[in-house]
Parts: sequence; C-alpha cells; structure tokens
Amino acid sequence: MQTITTSKLLYALLLTVMTLALLLSGCQNRALDLEQVGEDERIVIKFSHVVSELTPKGLAARRFAELVHERTDGLVEVQVYPNSQLYMDGEEVDALINNNVQMIAPATAKMTEFFPELLLFDLPFLFEDFEQVHRFIDSEGGQKLLDKFQTDSMLSLAMWDNGFKVMTANRPLYTPDDFAGLRFRIMPSRVLEAQFAQLGAQTRDMPFSDVYAALERGTVNAAENPPSNLYSKRFYMVQEHLTVSNHGYLGYLVLTNQTFWQGLPEDIREILEETLAEVTQWERKIAAEQNKRDLERIINSGEIEVHYLSEAEKAAWREALMPVHQMFLPDIGTELLQGTP
Ligand code: LMR
Repeated sequence: MQTITTSKLLYALLLTVMTLALLLSGCQNRALDLEQVGEDERIVIKFSHVVSELTPKGLAARRFAELVHERTDGLVEVQVYPNSQLYMDGEEVDALINNNVQMIAPATAKMTEFFPELLLFDLPFLFEDFEQVHRFIDSEGGQKLLDKFQTDSMLSLAMWDNGFKVMTANRPLYTPDDFAGLRFRIMPSRVLEAQFAQLGAQTRDMPFSDVYAALERGTVNAAENPPSNLYSKRFYMVQEHLTVSNHGYLGYLVLTNQTFWQGLPEDIREILEETLAEVTQWERKIAAEQNKRDLERIINSGEIEVHYLSEAEKAAWREALMPVHQMFLPDIGTELLQGTP
C-alpha cells in the first residue's frame, strides 16, 4: 500500500517537473520563434515612399524591414509601400502626421515648407561629391541641424542619399542660354524654382508619380533627376537629351510620427535606432554605386543623347547659378552655409 502511494507521489512529482520544463522551454521558444508572436502583440510600422523598390531608398527601406524583423524576433513588422502605392507626394506628410503611416522618407526639397533650412540641400553646386555631403551631415553643425527637424507630430531620424542630379530635356543643354523657354518639372522647393528662373526656364511643381505622363504628354519638357530615378521610372525614354551636370544633391529626410516613436518601448526604440543608423551607412554605399550603374544603363540603352559637361561649361553654369545662394541666405542662415564646403 505504502509502495503504491510513494510511486504515485513520485509520478506526480515527475509530471510536475516535466510540465514545468515544457512551460519553460515553451517560453524560451516563444521569444525566439517569430511565428509565435501573436498578431495583437505585433508593432506595425508602415513605411511609405514614392520611388521604385530598386532604388537606393527602396532597397534601404526593405533592408531596414528585414533587419528589424530579425532583431526584434518578429515583434516589429515594417511594412514597406513603394511607388506611391499608399500615398503620393502631397499626401504622405499628412498621412504621417495622422499616424496612418509611421515612416516616410521624402526628398529634403519636399520638406522645405516645414523646415526652411533644408533649402540648403537644393542649392546648385553647393556640394561637389558624396564625401562633402557626408562630411557636412556628420559634422556637429549637421547633426544639430538634423535634431531641429521635429514638430509635435514629426521627428527626423536620419538622412539618406539618393544622388547628384542630371538634366534632361527635349533639346541639348550645354550652356545656360540653352534653358530659355523650357518647362521643368520640379519638386516643391523655392530654391529649385529660383534655380530655373535664373536660367530663364519655367517650372511646374508636381508629384513624382505624375512625372512620366507629364513628360510624355509635353505638360513639361524637361526635368532634373538622379540617374536611379531617371532609370527606374524610365523618364529617359520620354526625353531626348541628357546632360551629366551633377549640379545638385538629392537626399532624403527619414521621418517618423513623433507620438508613435516616443510611445514605443525603450528597448524596441533602441533596436530601431541602431538598425537605422547601420542601414544609413549601408545606404550611402549602395546609393553611389547604383546611380553610377543606372547612368551606365541609360547610356547603354542608346535611347537618349548624352552629354558630359566640360569644365568650361560647368564653370559657366556655376557662374549663372551662384546668385541663388545669396538669395536664400536669409532662409538658411550664414552660419549654416559656412559649415558647408
Ligand atoms: C522626386 O520627386 O523627384 C524625388 O523626390 C523622388 C524621390 O523620392 O526620390
């Protein structure tokens, strides 16, 4: 009798130990196993942008999503919506402010209405190359500037590169005089408007998603774009001449919704910020490579006549455009401008 009771007790003890072991291993798995994070526990970040997935911004957004998934064990899901799929220019900032999306990365030009100091990045011939841009952004002044780009509803997290812009038109562009009477599509920036006014051209500001049709129909007959956008959206198919001018930089402000970001658990926010810093370095590298490659692809396509500005031609463009820097000193500030190359 006593033996039976003892073995029952032993059996019960064994069962308890096994159940505990199972529960513990279950907990461990739960933390490691992505699929087991419940739908209601997931933090979803909708990341909306207007360019192709195969551009520096598109690739970086995707890499950010993948790394975040990996590093948060699936707890944070970054959903990337490229090609103005969810919101187009003119809509995505409102969507961010209303927390309908949690991340966007508009060109700095498109944020100049909110943060006029960003006009600096549109100034023609301010930066010679990526190295100069990065030196400025990474400087104390540049970092202080980035910190300023926030409101109650928006917070800037990083700056990403696209590249240096080239000009396209339906006629060759060699000298400043060649711009007279052309109608350029621009992003909404007073500097870009002034840049073309200075060259005697008209401008029409329009969303990126409308550019191809506008060029095709002739609503505008010229544009400025970095090669990656020119190639991925096939604008070079509806333009006849390309001048490799590298006259201006196009970069992005990676933004989030302030309330959303501050409301994240601290450890998660840290992972996101560290990952973003890492992706930003990676993006710089691929942006340069990709623009180089896409320019080669455009040239090799034979679809558009390509002209490289000679040093003398470049000097003439620079001279014609330098007054634009002076015009925007009051908006940008002397101190900031002095911090650039
Ligand atoms: C443009 O509108 O030309 C660019 O800002 C598009 C982009 O996001 O690169």
